Amino acid sequence: MAEIAVLGHGVVGSGVLEVLLSHRDSITRRAKEEIDVKYILDLREFPELSYAGLFTKDFECIRSDPDVKIVVECMGGLEPAYTYAKACLTSGKSFVTSNKELVAAKGAELLALAQKNNLNFLFEASVGGGIPIIRPISQCLAANEVSEIAGILNGTTNFILTKMIREHMAFADALSLAQQLGYAERDPSADVEGADACRKICILASLAFGSHVYPEQVHTEGITKITLEDVAYADAWGGVIKLIGEVKMGENGKISIQVAPMFISRESPLCNVDDVFNGIMVRGDATGDVMFYGKGAGKLPTASAVVADVIDCVKHFKARKYLFWEDAKPDYVEPIGAVPGDCFVRVRGEGSSDEAFAAAETVFPGAVRIIRREEEPGEAGFSVTEVTADKLDEGFARLSSMGVRVLGRIIISDY
Ligand code: HSE
Repeated sequence: MAEIAVLGHGVVGSGVLEVLLSHRDSITRRAKEEIDVKYILDLREFPELSYAGLFTKDFECIRSDPDVKIVVECMGGLEPAYTYAKACLTSGKSFVTSNKELVAAKGAELLALAQKNNLNFLFEASVGGGIPIIRPISQCLAANEVSEIAGILNGTTNFILTKMIREHMAFADALSLAQQLGYAERDPSADVEGADACRKICILASLAFGSHVYPEQVHTEGITKITLEDVAYADAWGGVIKLIGEVKMGENGKISIQVAPMFISRESPLCNVDDVFNGIMVRGDATGDVMFYGKGAGKLPTASAVVADVIDCVKHFKARKYLFWEDAKPDYVEPIGAVPGDCFVRVRGEGSSDEAFAAAETVFPGAVRIIRREEEPGEAGFSVTEVTADKLDEGFARLSSMGVRVLGRIIISDY
């Protein structure tokens, strides 16, 4: 019998118990031994539960119990999860987590600690909820040189954008609906400002390219400034706006990585990833583009990934999974302002729309005009190709001196 402890009995932790109890026979068959929860750590009490006797408030009783070989962490947040992870990995216990804050901030260190002590540190549920993505990148696609990963990694923002695109709902109304439906937290800032997606793309980048990328190194832009006018321009251009986390490996061995709203063409497989769903595209040299799609959050999808990691740990008690990346390399992340790409720009001048666009053309030769329905007087939208963010800023300053104000810019993706 394999005895485990579960830290946290919130949405994911209670889901882990539900999956373990409801799938006991098939899990035992797959793990080749029974998995038994010996402790659940939570500050709250749940006297109504059939397994109420398993609860403890004392982490030390878990850490010091030699029978507990795997600890599952579903608390979220950096602390005390980080302290508990280190304590477990130095006390002979493998550690399974759904905690993206923990993996994004401390993944390299905890993987090294696990390796040193011949234990496993697994985190399939930290990205994409129930979508298998960590194992596919580290194992199934291991024969490829991965050059790019691009994903819709946050369900809350994808729901909001879908409502803006399909039902022309304003951002604030779509956010409030997401909150009513339980798809957004009361404090949705980590979602709408892009921090959640940033942690996830950092984990995928670290895994795919073998060197830790920290969220602080990544240009992150959320969806709070996206308007229905932008949505209409994306439609006129031939696509939709999605919040994308992307990482690309350059020929110089450095990566460019960012989270930002982007125009996505209707031809792209990411275009039809709607509502709370996530979609992740991995570009490999042998496979071409591979897409992963499914529910990126929620109790049972996330718990299913956690329990799969537990099964894997049980099957590899004395062997390590070859999941590993090194700590960050210096100058490994390219400053995003220096990386050229295509961009949509929306401006407004004091004269007509044609005049505003004529000014834009003098600053950005080759700019292509995009006209939306109900374009307002003086407003013009256009795309520019292969331009760096630094060059854009220079151009915007010139436009401003010509009396043309930049209302917004959105990256045009090539997925
Ligand atoms: N709020 C997050 C999302 C939860 O919507 O994707 C999972 O990280």
